[in-house]
Amino acid sequence: MIDVHAHFDDERFDEDRAEIISAMAEMPIRFILNSGSHIEACRRTLALADQYDFIYAAIGIYPHDTAILEEQGLGPIREMLKHKKVRAVGEIGLDYYYDMIPKATQQKWFHAQLEMAEEYHLPVVIHSRDAMQDTLSILKEHPKNTGIFHCYSGSAESLKEVLKLGFSISMGGVVTFKNARVAKEVAAAVPLDRLMLETDSPYLAPTPYRGKRNSSLYLPEIAKEIAAIRGMTPEEIERITDENAIRMFGFGEK
Ligand code: NI
Repeated sequence: MIDVHAHFDDERFDEDRAEIISAMAEMPIRFILNSGSHIEACRRTLALADQYDFIYAAIGIYPHDTAILEEQGLGPIREMLKHKKVRAVGEIGLDYYYDMIPKATQQKWFHAQLEMAEEYHLPVVIHSRDAMQDTLSILKEHPKNTGIFHCYSGSAESLKEVLKLGFSISMGGVVTFKNARVAKEVAAAVPLDRLMLETDSPYLAPTPYRGKRNSSLYLPEIAKEIAAIRGMTPEEIERITDENAIRMFGFGEK
């Protein structure tokens, strides 16, 4: 199984990080795409990628931290993108849920990081919250970019737009929540070649671990739920989503 979105650099793993990462390797989780969100998280993500063969890096600044880009620009991020285990620019995007950073600032740096990803020939990992229409219209201006919407939270209707842009989605713990009607609809509708699995650890642990600290150890719960929705076996879902992730991110290649 492959977890295409997690944050094992997070301080909630400071006490037992080595232990939990070796448990995941033994499970076995084949690959993890650990995602940066702010500068320090990106540095820690690269340190994990250096330390563990099966951990790869997504490097980028997410919408709530774009203020730092106003001060420093993308120079430090560009430096980090040269690392051989960086397989995506992310997570980047728009978040209108909290009113922390002006929309115009978020949009400016979303554009800039999409252009940077194109220049480095890397897919992008999109974070989009309460901002689906603006996310889609910005992506339409960058037709050469490809990638995933992580923790896809849009409707089955918006999914059609996402697919038309050539993007895939990854689904996490939310699909296992009892009242997650829209997520279950999306899980039923998404073409199998556009689906990947993620945990977003330490956030969004699936049922029956909801509310606890999440890790890739719980990834099977997500595969199980999607398999049940689609009338397939968890093994089939795992095999197909693994293939999709390897095709997009080149895990296992130098
Ligand atoms: Ni995340």
